[in-house]
Amino acid sequence: MPTALPEAPAPARLELPPLRLGRLSITTPVVLAPMAGITNTAFRRLCREFGGGLYVSEMVTSRALVERHPESLRIISHDDDEKVRSVQLYGVDPVTVGRAVRMIVEEDRADHIDLNFGCPVPKVTKRGGGSALPWKTDLFTSIVTTAVREAQRGDVPLTIKMRKGIDDDHLTYLEAGRIARDSGVAAVALHGRTCAQFYSGTADWGAIARLREALPDIPVLGNGDIWSAEDAIRMVRETGVDGVVVGRGCQGRPWLFGDLQAAFEGRAERIRPGLGEVAAAFYRHAELLVDYFEDEDKALRDIRKHVAWYFKGYTVGGELRAKLAQVPTLAVLRGLLDELDEDAPYPGIDAEGPRGRAGSPKRPALPDRWLESRSMNNDQTRDIAAAELDVSGG
Ligand SMILES: Cc1cc2nc3c(=O)[nH]c(=O)nc-3n(C[C@H](O)[C@H](O)[C@H](O)COP(=O)(O)O)c2cc1C
Repeated sequence: MPTALPEAPAPARLELPPLRLGRLSITTPVVLAPMAGITNTAFRRLCREFGGGLYVSEMVTSRALVERHPESLRIISHDDDEKVRSVQLYGVDPVTVGRAVRMIVEEDRADHIDLNFGCPVPKVTKRGGGSALPWKTDLFTSIVTTAVREAQRGDVPLTIKMRKGIDDDHLTYLEAGRIARDSGVAAVALHGRTCAQFYSGTADWGAIARLREALPDIPVLGNGDIWSAEDAIRMVRETGVDGVVVGRGCQGRPWLFGDLQAAFEGRAERIRPGLGEVAAAFYRHAELLVDYFEDEDKALRDIRKHVAWYFKGYTVGGELRAKLAQVPTLAVLRGLLDELDEDAPYPGIDAEGPRGRAGSPKRPALPDRWLESRSMNNDQTRDIAAAELDVSGG
């Protein structure tokens, strides 16, 4: 377990009540952002052990779920001790999304469902999905109302997560927020970027504040560029949100959830792990991935992408980093980690700050003539039913 050192100045206590999502009450108003390829049971377990909050699965495609693809069923699986089982669905067709929600509710597979309207990945948006979708208010309304109706049969709170819009000239978040609120969602989360921004630039917390103001009657969650507990507190103060959604900031740093809980409780201690503790967490992550995939080879291929995040700022050495990035088995991993100086202390600022996806703005890939109207034309309606595809996104 990484050591906790009293380092940060004590923040003035934030009087934030528990986050209410329908019948659920989340004491620490913090959400682990759904991240495809990251937020599986293994990573969620590591995060949960450090602090309270709501831990969302990777997104699952509605179509693949209703077809019971084994990988989709794995994605929505939870450990027995996950008290709030949270699932994120992606879909573009109201009928299929409705069927997926119904399946989850009838088979008691989750306690909370989130819908993804934020994915900027071209293969998703060019089919009208993810962050392209709220532009079509008729389709968006239809998906959200259908999903809420199905979720309400089991009293399962349903939330949506979205971006600001397609680009600065085609913003959708205020209208989409109102539609979602009127459809009965339990909360709305906003990532303060447009689709065109992808992960570039900085998240617009001003937009988050505007959404908070526009929707006084339901919880609004803010997302984007929270790299530390102090950032989270600052976002709450600046925007008035009811909770924060944290994505890339916890990649390679599951202990951030310990910091977040401490900060929201007004405590000053922060977790500052030395290299030995980071190595132990990394090994444990790999072991948990072996359990999750039931396949050591697959798990070790998966852990490789976490190397740069866990060891950011620590003295590891180029050769060892390269070997870690190709590690084939748990036994080899053990040997490589044993080469590290386990007494090396926390490196400070070098281990903090932005990590994970960044990149540059991109012109959004959209279906033909998508921006011409806010409602679907016949061709688009015909194509959308076929547009559910097995994607992983963000
Ligand atoms: C690797 C990766 C995968 C992602 N996958 C999803 C996803 O499946 N569903 C979703 O709604 N957002 C996804 N996102 C977006 C995040 O949930 C979050 O909105 C975004 O990273 C901004 O928050 P952050 O600045 O805290 O990282 C993904 C982001 C990353 C980096």
